[in-house]
Amino acid sequence: MNRLTIRRPDDWHLHFRDGATMRAVVPYTAHQFARAIVMPNLSPPVTTSALAAAYRDRILDAVPEGVDFTPLMTAYLTDMTDPADLAAGFADGVLTAAKLYPAGATTNSDHGVTDIANIAAVLERMAEVGMPLCVHGEVTHADIDIFDREAVFIDRVLAPLVDRLPELKVIFEHITTRQAAEFVDAAGPNVAATITPQHLHINRNAMLVGGIRPHMYCLPVAKREEHRLALRKAATGGSAKYFLGTDSAPHHRHTKETDCGCAGIFNAPYALESYITVFDEEGALDRFEAFAAENGPAFYGLPLNEGTVTLEKAPVSVPAEVSGGEAVIVPFHASETLSWRLVS
Ligand code: DOR
Ligand code: ZN
Repeated sequence: MNRLTIRRPDDWHLHFRDGATMRAVVPYTAHQFARAIVMPNLSPPVTTSALAAAYRDRILDAVPEGVDFTPLMTAYLTDMTDPADLAAGFADGVLTAAKLYPAGATTNSDHGVTDIANIAAVLERMAEVGMPLCVHGEVTHADIDIFDREAVFIDRVLAPLVDRLPELKVIFEHITTRQAAEFVDAAGPNVAATITPQHLHINRNAMLVGGIRPHMYCLPVAKREEHRLALRKAATGGSAKYFLGTDSAPHHRHTKETDCGCAGIFNAPYALESYITVFDEEGALDRFEAFAAENGPAFYGLPLNEGTVTLEKAPVSVPAEVSGGEAVIVPFHASETLSWRLVS
């Protein structure tokens, strides 16, 4: 197959930032996707319905004229989150989901939840009203090796949570391990997962062999090859529990190429081309549409998009860097040639 037309896809996990960076990166995503779940880890974070509504308006102002793109907003959970505000934001359509960052897990997560027991009432309310919970699934204790943080999170936090609140819709985001895929496969219908393009393409060697490569560093960090292979199987295997979520995370070049570089891979400009390459390599092009455009809306209970996009098997060169507002950003696959291109 050399050409594939699918229903317009969505990105179920994305970072836009704010200000000039946001205005620079919104067009990349709006060009590829009809909707995106927008992460709330701004500084300060988007913790309330009112802040989410204002952020949504700033994003909409940055969507290029004539492009049809809908940001789906999330609220950042803290130890102090008000269940009534969340439920009202969800009922009004301002909020699509809420996001659990364990405090200290990643970029701008310092205001995150210090103990899941502190948000018990919030989670119960979310389960009651059917509001999905997006989860950054890593423990943060200093004594847990960074490569084990996702697997330990499953045992200590996620499995008990899902047992306690089986009605809560949980998206285990940007999964990076065989253990995560096994957990999702075995869990009930209210547990799903997103998978990024980078975790389908690279293992930890990409980041560490031959020198430190900061543009291959994101969180959760890429793991061993066996985990990458398990993720490819999960994404392309036809289960409706897995869907597209890029975790595209813009950081300017100088904030990654420094003595303490930021976590995040900016894959928005060529996300579909990156994902479809994997489906092609796995002989699963017939399953790409479900992963990119059907499983996500089905899980969230949202309508499928109208319209289509077409990809064709033809080389596309990814630039070494792209505009990121005040400074440049090095995209995922920088200076590589991908074998599929987005036609329209
Ligand atoms: O690599 C990451 N970057 N992982 C996250 O969880 C957050 C993100 C960011 O905001 O930069
Ligand atoms: Zn993220």
